[in-house]
Amino acid sequence: MRPDSAKPVASYVQLAMYRGWQRYIALTAIVVFIVYFGFLLRQDSLNPITPDLSPSQFEHPALKVSNHPIDHLIKKARFGFKQLLGKRSVTLEQAASRYRERRGRHPPPGFDIWFKAAQKKDAIVVEEFFDRIHHDINPFWALDPHDMRVQTHTQPQVIHVRSGKASWVTDDDKRPPWIQLWTALVEEMLPHLPDLDMVVNVMDETRILVPWEKIDSYVATEEKMRKLIHPDDAISQYSGLSDVDAANEPYEPNWIHSETNTYWDHTRAACPPDSIARNISSLASFNDSIDYPTGPMEYTYKGFVQNFTASQDACRQPHLRGMHGTFIESVSMSTLHELLPMFGGSKLPQNNEILIPGAMYLTDDPFYSGGRTHGVKWAAKKDALVWRGAASGGRNKVDNWWHFHRHRWVQMMNGTTVSAMEAGDESRGPSFKLIPPETYSVLKKQKGKLGQWLSSFADVGFNILECFPRVPSGKGYLKTCEYTDPFMEVMQSVPMKTQYKYKYLPDVDGNSFSARWRGFLLSTSMPLKATIYAEWHDDRMIPWVHFVPFDSSYMDIYGIMDYFLNGHDAEAQRIAEEGRVWAESVYRRDDMMLYVWRLLLEYARVVDDNRERLAFVEDLR
Ligand SMILES: *[C@@H]1O[C@H](CO)[C@@H](O)[C@H](O)[C@H]1NC(C)=O
Ligand SMILES: *[C@@H]1O[C@H](CO)[C@@H](O)[C@H](O)[C@H]1NC(C)=O
Ligand SMILES: *[C@@H]1O[C@H](CO)[C@@H](O)[C@H](O)[C@H]1NC(C)=O
Ligand SMILES: *[C@@H]1O[C@H](CO)[C@@H](O)[C@H](O)[C@H]1NC(C)=O
Repeated sequence: MRPDSAKPVASYVQLAMYRGWQRYIALTAIVVFIVYFGFLLRQDSLNPITPDLSPSQFEHPALKVSNHPIDHLIKKARFGFKQLLGKRSVTLEQAASRYRERRGRHPPPGFDIWFKAAQKKDAIVVEEFFDRIHHDINPFWALDPHDMRVQTHTQPQVIHVRSGKASWVTDDDKRPPWIQLWTALVEEMLPHLPDLDMVVNVMDETRILVPWEKIDSYVATEEKMRKLIHPDDAISQYSGLSDVDAANEPYEPNWIHSETNTYWDHTRAACPPDSIARNISSLASFNDSIDYPTGPMEYTYKGFVQNFTASQDACRQPHLRGMHGTFIESVSMSTLHELLPMFGGSKLPQNNEILIPGAMYLTDDPFYSGGRTHGVKWAAKKDALVWRGAASGGRNKVDNWWHFHRHRWVQMMNGTTVSAMEAGDESRGPSFKLIPPETYSVLKKQKGKLGQWLSSFADVGFNILECFPRVPSGKGYLKTCEYTDPFMEVMQSVPMKTQYKYKYLPDVDGNSFSARWRGFLLSTSMPLKATIYAEWHDDRMIPWVHFVPFDSSYMDIYGIMDYFLNGHDAEAQRIAEEGRVWAESVYRRDDMMLYVWRLLLEYARVVDDNRERLAFVEDLR
C-alpha cells in the first residue's frame, strides 16, 4: 500500500464518522478504498506478465555497473517475451487466421469450440505456444491413416475415446496411475472430442527413435501435402473408428530391448548426418576418462546458455554419451525405429513421441507440488540453494556410477569434494573435472576457495543412492552403496514446502524429466533448470524470464550462482516472481487440458482417411 494515498482516505473516513449523519458516506469511502487498493494489488500481480521494457528499465544503475553477460541474456529474453505476448489472439477469427498463416492448413474441425473454451478459462492463446503440437504431429502426415488406426487400436496401454466417453486399458495394473491421470484429463474435454485411440508411454524412459533420414523424408512429404483447401471442399465430420473396432487386428511393433548401454547408438542415428554426435559411438569402456568439455558450448553467450533448445540437444554434445544416465544404462530400454503414434510426458529432442503433460503434473501429491504452499516471502528466504533427490537416472553400478548426471551434480555441488579437487586430489571427484579458471570469472575470483564458497550456500545431496544390485538390509534395502560411500552420504529428505524456504531451486533430470518442475515454477523461489528432455510447455516458459537455464555439463552453475548471490538479488526475485505469475496464467491444469484438447483434434485428423478435407472454415464463410 502507498502510505501517502492511504492517509487522506483514512482521515476522510474519520471525518465522515464524526459527523454521524453521514455514516453512509463513510461506508461508501470504505468501499471505494477497498476497490481501489484491490485494483492496485491486481495491477501488481498482473504487471510481471507484461514486463516493463522501456529503456529506463535497462538503465537501472546495478545493471549498468555490472554489465555481466547474464544481464544481456535477461534483457534480450524479456524483450523477446514481450514480442511474443504481442501476438496474443483474442478472437476466433484472429486465432484461426494465425493458425493458417503458421501451419499452412485450416484448423481442424472443433477448433471454434476449443477456442471458446479457452476464452472461458481466461487462457492466453498465442499460436507459437502450440508449435510443439505441429512439430510432433507433422511426420505422421506421411503415414497411411488406416495403418495408424490399426496399429494404435490394440496396444497394451491405450486411452479410448468413443461417443464422448473415455476409458483406458493397461496390461500392468501395478504401474503408477499415469494412464488414470491422463484419462481423467481427457474426460474434461468431453463431449467435444472425436473418437480416437491414444497409445501412451507409461515407462519412465522415452521410446521411439526413427533414424534421421526417414523422419526427414516424412517431414518433406508433409510439407508437400500442406494446403489451404477451398472452403467449399471442407468437411467437419470425423470418420470415427468403426472399421478398426470391427476388425480388431493385432499389431506388434518391433520393439528393441536391451540390458546394456546402447541407447546412445539408437539416439545418434536420429541425429542429422552432419552433427558431431552422429559419428561417435557409445562409450567402449566405462574406464575411459570422461571427455568432459573444456569450454562452453556454441549455444552459450560468454559461457551462459543462450539457446535453451540447443542446450537440450545431445546431437551437439557427444560428451553426453559419457555424462548422462540415459546413455549409460537406463533402468529399462524399449525402443522402436518405426514411427508409431505414441503419447508421452517427455522425450529427447530426437524421440518421436507426441508430447502431453507428464502425468505427475496432474496429481495433487504434495511430494511433487509442495501442496498448497508456494513459499514464504522472498526477503524471508535463505540466501541459499537446495536440492534433494534419489540417485536415479538409470542403473548405477560399481563400474559406471561416475558417468551418471545426478552423481556428477551432487559431487560438483559438494564443497568438500571441490576443495579436495582444488588441492589437486582428482581421485575425490571421479565424475567431473574442474574447468580452466579463465572460463568463468568466478573461478578466478574464488581461486583455491571455490569449495569453501560452495559450502557457504549449497545444500545438495541424495536421500537414497539406489545402487544396483540392491543390498538387502533388515526388511528392506540399504540406502547407501559401498562403492559410493567414500564420495557421498545419504542426507535427510527435505519436503518441497521446506525447499521453498530457499531462494534457489535447481532442477536436473532423473530417469527422464523431473516431475517437480511445475511445482518449482509455481513457487515463490527462483527455479534453475538443466535438461536434455523436451516437454509440452517448452514454448511457453521462457528461459531467463521465468527460470534460469543451465547446461547439462553443469559447468556454468558456479558462474550463475556468483551472479545472483553477489549483487543481483533483485533480478533473482523478479525471475522468481514473474515465473510464478506466468505459471499461474499459462501452466494451470486448464492450460494442460486445453493443450491436449487441441492436440487431440489434430491427432484425430491425421489418422482420418479424410484428413485433407477435415477443416474448420466457418470463419471464412
Ligand atoms: C564414422 O564415419 C566414418 C567415415 O564415414 C566411418 O568409416 C565410421 O564407421 C564411422 N564411425 C561410426 C562410429 O559411425
Ligand atoms: C576397469 O578398471 C577396473 C579397476 O581399475 C578393472 O578391474 C576393470 O577390469 C576395468 N574394466 C574394463 C572394461 O577395462
Ligand atoms: C536454437 O536452437 C534450435 C535447435 O538447435 C534452433 O532450431 C534455433 O534456430 C535456435 N534459435 C536461435 C534463436 O538461434
Ligand atoms: C561430500 O564429499 C565428502 C567427501 O569428499 C563426503 O564425505 C560427503 O559425504 C559428501 N557430502 C554429501 C552430501 O554427499
